[in-house]
Amino acid sequence: MTTPDPLLQVRDLRVNVGERTVLRSVSLDVNAGSLVVLMGANGSGKSTLGLALAGHPAYHVLGGQALLAGQDLLAMPAHERARAGLFLSFQSPPDVPGVKNNLFIRTALNAQRESRGEQPLDAFDFLTSAKQAAKGLGLPEAMLGRPVNAGFSGGERKRNELLQLSLLQPRLALLDEIDSGMDVDGVRAVVEQVARLRAQGTAFIVVSHYLQMIEQLHPDAVLRLDQGCIAERGDLGLARHIAETGFASRTAPVGA
Ligand SMILES: Nc1ncnc2c1ncn2[C@@H]1O[C@H](COP(=O)(O)OP(=O)(O)OP(=O)(O)O)[C@@H](O)[C@H]1O
Ligand SMILES: [Mg+2]
Repeated sequence: MTTPDPLLQVRDLRVNVGERTVLRSVSLDVNAGSLVVLMGANGSGKSTLGLALAGHPAYHVLGGQALLAGQDLLAMPAHERARAGLFLSFQSPPDVPGVKNNLFIRTALNAQRESRGEQPLDAFDFLTSAKQAAKGLGLPEAMLGRPVNAGFSGGERKRNELLQLSLLQPRLALLDEIDSGMDVDGVRAVVEQVARLRAQGTAFIVVSHYLQMIEQLHPDAVLRLDQGCIAERGDLGLARHIAETGFASRTAPVGA
């Protein structure tokens, strides 16, 4: 019996931000339905990895490979990566003035449906499911009609990322500190959404410093990023050890 290829395969990814090489050589695999927690000290490059995979123009890929379901992510513009099923939840979700939240999410969802050969959802059907999802996430319905993140509190922005995740149902979701700024109910909603989508095959890379949530996510692997490389690979034991002893005492990757 042959094992299927990982959904995401990243090989020797090297990324510059401005003049600085932030990722020197990152390699990782994520299987469909599995969850990898990415840890690392502040400034170690976790957000850089997510933004580079999503195609942010400020993150310049110097070399390496990133395949999503066999498709060459790095060769695609950002919107095609999203169409291919990649979703990034921002560490600091930006405001998008003048663009209504519900229209924004519906447009993204319908672009994905189109690329899967499905009919677009009309405004009524979309709004019905969006209202239901918002309610389940504790987001007031009125937020669907407001410009994206305009005037949203820190926790509301994160819940809005979760709303997008739950409606878009991506193949691979990168959640960059989605728990930061969220109250206990918000963190519970993250855990529930992740479990629901994972059962449907969505793969996750979750960046978090919060051990309690990491434990509840039941990760398949825990990785530690240091000096632009994956310095350690382990399981929950690694996350627990880091929580106990910190990053500063850990060994730097070979060649750093
Ligand atoms: N646009 C930019 N211009 C200059 N330097 C940048 C830029 N973006 C990121 N960096 C630098 O790249 C390094 C990695 O940043 P990154 O945001 O990826 O870290 P992180 O691991 O996500 O940290 P944190 O845990 O604080 O979120 C940092 O030293 C940061 O200052
Ligand atoms: Mg970050």
